[in-house]
Amino acid sequence: METFALRQRVLRPSLTVRDVETPRDRDVDTAHVIARLVTGEVVGTGTVIREESPWGEAGWRLRWMAVAPDHRRRGVGARLLAALVEHVGAGGGGTLWCVARLSAVPFYERAGFTIRGEPGDDRDTGPTVVMWCEQVADR
Ligand SMILES: CC(C)(COP(=O)(O)OP(=O)(O)OC[C@H]1O[C@@H](n2cnc3c(N)ncnc32)[C@H](O)[C@@H]1OP(=O)(O)O)[C@@H](O)C(=O)NCCC(=O)NCCS
Repeated sequence: METFALRQRVLRPSLTVRDVETPRDRDVDTAHVIARLVTGEVVGTGTVIREESPWGEAGWRLRWMAVAPDHRRRGVGARLLAALVEHVGAGGGGTLWCVARLSAVPFYERAGFTIRGEPGDDRDTGPTVVMWCEQVADR
């Protein structure tokens, strides 16, 4: 799937495309979004999975947000996230959370996320922090 190729290239360049695909990517509640240029090139991707928060609330985990370097700061990431938030709302809402790289914290803050807890250190990604926001259910 195209989402995995960009995911691998931007977020896990030391792994193979096959390595970055997880079993939960195929869950019935999981949503993937991509941003595509008119040329067909995929320049952005993101995923949301139904998964309880690290502190035990029912919710959704935002994962694998990635925009190709030449296309950042043009609103692509924000639009991808908005589409994933719509999916969460349609799925009943709840806590939307992610493990954010420190470099991505301003992006998530701008989208309404708040840091919770102390920073951690992921072997693959470097320093991270858990962020969250509450999403209401669609009526
Ligand atoms: C994080 C990422 C997905 C953001 O995508 P993007 O398309 O560049 O984000 P947008 O253009 O939609 O940004 C929306 C707002 O977030 C904030 N923002 C985004 N990137 C930012 C940065 N590097 N520094 C400060 N603020 C930032 C800004 O407020 C921005 O609005 P503005 O451009 O009008 O000021 C992208 O930078 C990326 O792929 N980074 C590398 C991979 C990564 O770290 N992914 C997250 C893993 S947790």
